Amino acid sequence: MFKCPSFECLKCPRLLEFREQNKAKFPNYHNGPVESFGSLEAEILVVGLAPGLNGANQTNRPFTNDYAGDILYPALKKFGFAKGEYQKVKNDSYELINVRITNSVRCVPPQNKVTSEEIKACRPYLQAEISAMPNLKVILCLGSVAHGAVLQALNYKKSACKFAHGAKHFLSNHNLILIDSYHTSRYNINTGVLTVDMFDKIVENLTEICK
Ligand code: URA
Repeated sequence: MFKCPSFECLKCPRLLEFREQNKAKFPNYHNGPVESFGSLEAEILVVGLAPGLNGANQTNRPFTNDYAGDILYPALKKFGFAKGEYQKVKNDSYELINVRITNSVRCVPPQNKVTSEEIKACRPYLQAEISAMPNLKVILCLGSVAHGAVLQALNYKKSACKFAHGAKHFLSNHNLILIDSYHTSRYNINTGVLTVDMFDKIVENLTEICK
């Protein structure tokens, strides 16, 4: 049975120090490893970067109350991968259908930047999660950090396949399809690197693979 990391995970000194600062500043926030969202029975796993300070780190649900969730969650619903209302809190009525969402690093990092040591420390959780998904067909990586984290979790080199928005890589050793998208971050949307239409196309593509 897969278990998300608990508050007992003390692997990352920098993230623990940040957690302590955030506990003092935002005592009502979750301030700990953020749980994944969605069923382990899902065919699709979406992998993000790490919780946002006032988003997932507050709500304990990936992308929830994060700007990136404002792009991700409506797109999933538009193409039948969710139902209910996304209201930026964990106990809203929004439910994922055939999708699970997790992060490369499960604790909020300072300035939204994770280190390679932190990705490595969190890897066993990602590996355990992937292994605990018996119907998994597709991993959608949001951004190049997630792309590298997933490849390494599956024992490939980060460079085994190149990150490119819209790229589809078949990982024959695992019988899995890895799909890349630019991250739905505010920065990418504001700079036009990613548009809502571009992201919708990525999600629409998933309907072809997981009907
Ligand atoms: N961005 C991510 O990559 N993950 C989250 O959970 C929130 C924002």
